[in-house]
Amino acid sequence: MYEQISHSLLNDILVELKKKTKPQNMQFFYTRLGANFYAIYSLFNTLYGEHPDSKKHILHLVETLMHQYISRPSHLKKIDLEREKDHNWFLSQKWIGMALYCNGYADNLKDMLSRLNYLQELGVNLVHIMPICDCPEGKSDGGYAVRDFCKIDSRFGTFEDFDELVANLKKRDMLLTLDVVVNHTSDQHEWAKKAREGDKAYQDYYFIFDDRSIPDIYEESMPEVFPETAPGNFTWDEAMGKWVMTVFNRYQWDLNYRNPAVFIEMLDIILFWANRGADILRLDAVAFMWKKMGSSCQNEREAHLILQLMKDCCQVTAPGVLFIAEAIVAPTEIIKYFGEDAINAKECEIAYNATFMALLWDAVATKKAILLNKGIQNIPSKLERATWLNYVRCHDDIGWGFSDDDIVTAGYEPQSHRRFLVDYFTGNYEGSLSAGLAFGRNSQTGDARISGSLASLAGLERALKNNDPDAINMAIKIILLLHGMILSFGGIPMLYYGDAIGTLNDDSYLNDESKNDDSRWIHRPKMNWEKAMHRTQPGTVEYSIFNAVKKMISIRKEIPAFADRNNRELLNVDNPHLFVFSRFDQINSSSRVLVIGNFNDEPQFLDLSPLQRMGFFQYDSIKNLCNGESLHAMNGNLMIPARSFYWLEA
Ligand code: GLC
Repeated sequence: MYEQISHSLLNDILVELKKKTKPQNMQFFYTRLGANFYAIYSLFNTLYGEHPDSKKHILHLVETLMHQYISRPSHLKKIDLEREKDHNWFLSQKWIGMALYCNGYADNLKDMLSRLNYLQELGVNLVHIMPICDCPEGKSDGGYAVRDFCKIDSRFGTFEDFDELVANLKKRDMLLTLDVVVNHTSDQHEWAKKAREGDKAYQDYYFIFDDRSIPDIYEESMPEVFPETAPGNFTWDEAMGKWVMTVFNRYQWDLNYRNPAVFIEMLDIILFWANRGADILRLDAVAFMWKKMGSSCQNEREAHLILQLMKDCCQVTAPGVLFIAEAIVAPTEIIKYFGEDAINAKECEIAYNATFMALLWDAVATKKAILLNKGIQNIPSKLERATWLNYVRCHDDIGWGFSDDDIVTAGYEPQSHRRFLVDYFTGNYEGSLSAGLAFGRNSQTGDARISGSLASLAGLERALKNNDPDAINMAIKIILLLHGMILSFGGIPMLYYGDAIGTLNDDSYLNDESKNDDSRWIHRPKMNWEKAMHRTQPGTVEYSIFNAVKKMISIRKEIPAFADRNNRELLNVDNPHLFVFSRFDQINSSSRVLVIGNFNDEPQFLDLSPLQRMGFFQYDSIKNLCNGESLHAMNGNLMIPARSFYWLEA
């Protein structure tokens, strides 16, 4: 958009920049800057217009964009152009992700090279390598307490190893996702050190207070993220003699985005990793980026403006790079991280579908899809050029993030239902074989989240201990059912390392002082490659899970209706145990898939006549896409085995 004030400011800025930089091939930079500058200026002005050095900062911002553009490698600039042409590329059903720690899945970045074959064997072509930036030894929240954003932690390797890995991934047509921890730094970060030494400019990078008067006001409305291990949202720093805002752990200092210098530093870091070859950046804890007294300090409007500004700026320098919003918040809030009132994502192109994840686990525990159906209906529809990251497990805990209203409409009482879920997954409920641990228990409300590996939560660990073949079989079915859902729902499925071979809980973290108070480590194991070898031996658990998941992945890739183009329809059926939806291909309307998940541990029947009236199954035989077999209805009813799913050609 052309607008006089921003345009004339841009002209001034360009004159300044031209004095400093030699002429280069900047055509694409200028066209993108021209196209985005009005938005950049307006957002910057809304956020920082009142700042005394606002004009100086916006010059610095554009300078940063330009320098990073100049240092962007030409092969990445080429990818930017390709992705501009094929701008919906990431909505394709061909993408399958896996999240892993480079020192958990492999030994380190170098060793990752020898482990890429496994991913390709399974069909994974998008790797999320969790934090690799330099962190203090000891407690570092699994790498989310960063000491230096532009340095690789020596435990993981060097930039040389990293570059080799990136080049190798590119050759394999695999995408790389990396974290940028935008909300906080480690208390050992250089900025924190300078703040501690009394440097006022750096104290202004954080929320630092002389006494409790302001912190106490904040505390009135701020919830606690880690109530057991890090109660409260402020930490007394002895060396500085001041209070610091630490929403997560005491050693993670929250960044102050009211300061434009912080915004520009973090943008520079985002572009740094974009230029290092990341295709996708996972922006950590984005819901927390703006703090306002009297609010929960989550999901504030300004946090969205910051993300919009980050996106607009990234589009100027590295437009091929996507953002994932890591915002594990209520469904009505999650959806806003794509950007409101838009068609294309104007904040993050991808967002964690934490609601779907939690609802799937609810269905496992209740053996019914009532809340799942309700909860999914209430997720507002996403934008056209945006997609979900669908997952069953990740490195974090499972929180029961669906709304109390939905729990009530599903026929349960919220508090007791949430208790039931905790009891079920910690194995304290009659008939439950789950072996999860409570995480972040709130002593006042009794609420808790859940840690535990997929296989252990699904009952595999206890079934194996009991040497009970039926229970083992049932646990495998649950694991596959959950994968069957995330692979067909619409969005990018993100598997978690170890899950495709049924990795169980690992309690070795209890022997490590820096980890033993955080039960999430129980599901962050070292990959057992000997166990992984069993995937080639029929009859083993590993074989059953790995090969079924592998097959689903390869089938998904061939089904255009599984691309995410707002092409899902939830179907109401009169069996409470079933979750049924259809996926259709908007371009080729004859391609339609009916997905049916049975969450009960007894077979269930689906009355096909209402579906037939809707145009499904015009022929007698129904094809199960997962194995090519024909299924037959009995008296108009289709039988879905216990804890199983179908992808049916419809
Ligand atoms: C994100 C990460 C989580 C971490 C938190 C604080 O939620 O996924 O592991 O503890 O941010 O950085």
